[in-house]
Amino acid sequence: MTAQIIDGKAFAAEVRAKVAEHVSALKADHGITPGLAVVLVGEDPASQVYVRSKGKQTVEAGMESFEHKLDVSTSEEDLLALVDKLNNDPAVNGILVQLPLPDHIDEEKVINAIDPAKDVDGFHISNVGLLATGQKAMVPCTPLGCLMLLRDHFGSLSGKEAVVVGRSNIVGKPMAQLLLRDSCTVTIAHSRTKDIEEVVKRADIVIAAVGRPEMVTGDWLKKGAVVIDVGINRLPPAEEGAKGKLVGDVDFASASQVAGAITPVPGGVGPMTIACLLANTLTATCRANGLPEPEGLTA
Ligand code: GUN
Repeated sequence: MTAQIIDGKAFAAEVRAKVAEHVSALKADHGITPGLAVVLVGEDPASQVYVRSKGKQTVEAGMESFEHKLDVSTSEEDLLALVDKLNNDPAVNGILVQLPLPDHIDEEKVINAIDPAKDVDGFHISNVGLLATGQKAMVPCTPLGCLMLLRDHFGSLSGKEAVVVGRSNIVGKPMAQLLLRDSCTVTIAHSRTKDIEEVVKRADIVIAAVGRPEMVTGDWLKKGAVVIDVGINRLPPAEEGAKGKLVGDVDFASASQVAGAITPVPGGVGPMTIACLLANTLTATCRANGLPEPEGLTA
């Protein structure tokens, strides 16, 4: 069997178009333009690429983009002062502080200083607790994107066996909460899981989010399983000066022979993350203004 390819790039374009349509109606009907502030401290090249892309797509969706690029030597105190300013700025509906932060800054402290209602990353401890208890939360963008792809594929996820490989706060844990909320039977597997292949083999849904290139191979999968690959890993270049190949946490060649459907890397989950950031900014704006939330763009 050759798996169906889940086209995250196309789906993300649909999500962005829906967001843009809602933004346009918000402006026309209520005079409201959602605003997203992105804060980048330092010059990490990957972070710079992400931030540029976020700014561009925010503007394309008709939203206001506020970029704050701070020097790597910025003090924690100054960063907290900026967060406080953004919390109190009515033009800012969403705040994202790009991670990782330099070592001298306490990430947790900064994340938890963001107004939870503007926490479009869903990393604030209040949002983590709201999600875990099934209440209305801001939901982390990557897991939200995976959930959208799965709901689109299956319709209902109720009763499915889901195995999440990886237990990070950004992907693994919130992903497990979202799947549980959609009535899956959920297992979180990780580096210390015994017989991990056998655990993954039980799954109707596999979410690979470990950050280890091509770790999940076809012989780990149940026939017909739906595989969502969150990994973005660059392999060492074949020759000097060249760029290494981008691969996921799943060995696509073998997995696609067994899976029923699979997301590619690139072009799978990746584009969904920024699309969901825009969706979260729209959701935060609607909530802040007591307006109905956009359908199909939240968990
Ligand atoms: N760095 C890598 N991924 C993310 C993300 O989803 N949010 C933030 N704030 N920083 C990141």
